Amino acid sequence: FDAIDIIVTKRDRGELSAAQIDWVIDAYTSGSIADEQMSSLAMAILLNGMNRREIADWTAAMIRSGERMDWSMLDRPTADKHSTGGVGDKITLPLAPLVAACGAYVPQLSGRGLGHTGGTLDKLESIPGWRASLSNEEMLAVIRSAGAVVCAAGSGLAPADKKLYALRDVTGTVESIPLIASSIMSKKIAEGTGSLVLDVKVGSGAFMKNVADARELARTMVELGTDAGVRTVALLTAMDRPLGLKIGNALEVEESVEVLAGGGPADVVELTLTLAREMLEAAGVSGKDPAVALKDGSAMDAWRRMITAQGGDPDALLPRAAETMEITAPASGVLTTLDALGVGVAAWRLGAGRARKEDPVSFGAGIVLHAKPGDIVRQGQPLMTLHADETSRFERALESLDGAYEVTENTDPGLLPLVVER
Ligand code: URA
Repeated sequence: FDAIDIIVTKRDRGELSAAQIDWVIDAYTSGSIADEQMSSLAMAILLNGMNRREIADWTAAMIRSGERMDWSMLDRPTADKHSTGGVGDKITLPLAPLVAACGAYVPQLSGRGLGHTGGTLDKLESIPGWRASLSNEEMLAVIRSAGAVVCAAGSGLAPADKKLYALRDVTGTVESIPLIASSIMSKKIAEGTGSLVLDVKVGSGAFMKNVADARELARTMVELGTDAGVRTVALLTAMDRPLGLKIGNALEVEESVEVLAGGGPADVVELTLTLAREMLEAAGVSGKDPAVALKDGSAMDAWRRMITAQGGDPDALLPRAAETMEITAPASGVLTTLDALGVGVAAWRLGAGRARKEDPVSFGAGIVLHAKPGDIVRQGQPLMTLHADETSRFERALESLDGAYEVTENTDPGLLPLVVER
């Protein structure tokens, strides 16, 4: 095969054969195809798409580029959840120990924040001592002791995706349904989970801005999972406003612990319970009711065991940013808009996210909301508090909040329902 032939085929809207796809993924992983060639192919795929057969072959080739994990030695079914990414989406933190407390094992490989979207590993790393990198043996030991493990994918898992994702990130080729679906599903299938619930986010703060695109992404991923023998379900959920009241790494750990203690914001609790029920059903486990496990302390116990088993101290004080700034309601009325993208970009600029892949995140930086869309507010009442390590961060955060919130007389903010469809 020849890289140029393959690029030209896709450029001219042709179909790639299974053998061509295998060869190109393999050659890119081993370094015999150059970044500029793969970048050109990724752009041709973004512009011209791939059919179902090509997407399935592409995903299979990415899985074969590395190891496939196996949990068949465990005495309980495994279940995992993957979110396509959002603002304030800390659901994995309460969800993984909750599902473990209800009787399934959760082997979850997670990622870091990208752009304005937060990453589970960055959040958990704000807990002093907690380690994201585990060997396969350590993963197994954490699952056996806590029922759930959340850690980074090792270098042996879908190495083709690692390389391709980093390339897409800097070549304007992230927002392609075939490339997103194959990227996510190659990692989740290689992770070896028996069942998978996909939380496909829709709205300004998500990769998919409208329901039709989110539905296509969801359908594509469910088909890939099902064909690979993973019981896969997808929910489309709202990301037109932030999830919960806290956005930022340590702030989101704080809110997750509130949920595990039986409190926390209604939307975070509702989505956590909905996803937990879907995971247990997909895994075929009818153990404890997740709502009970949040109230009786068993989910909190699983959380403490999971954090401790990965070197973290669940009782340690979390990092706090040195500086805060309050934003107040410009008028009295209803908070009709609180745009997820504007708030997410503001949190990112405050230091919660990275400007470049190799940058550190600020654990304490972020935003605490004091009102959510639909709430009645009075002029001068606090709407949100910005947290940052340096006051110099506030100005650029304020720029991205410009127009992101609105107080009007209108009583219907026109929001997406929390769960849009299944
Ligand atoms: N998350 C992934 O893992 N891959 C993508 O392409 C997009 C989101």
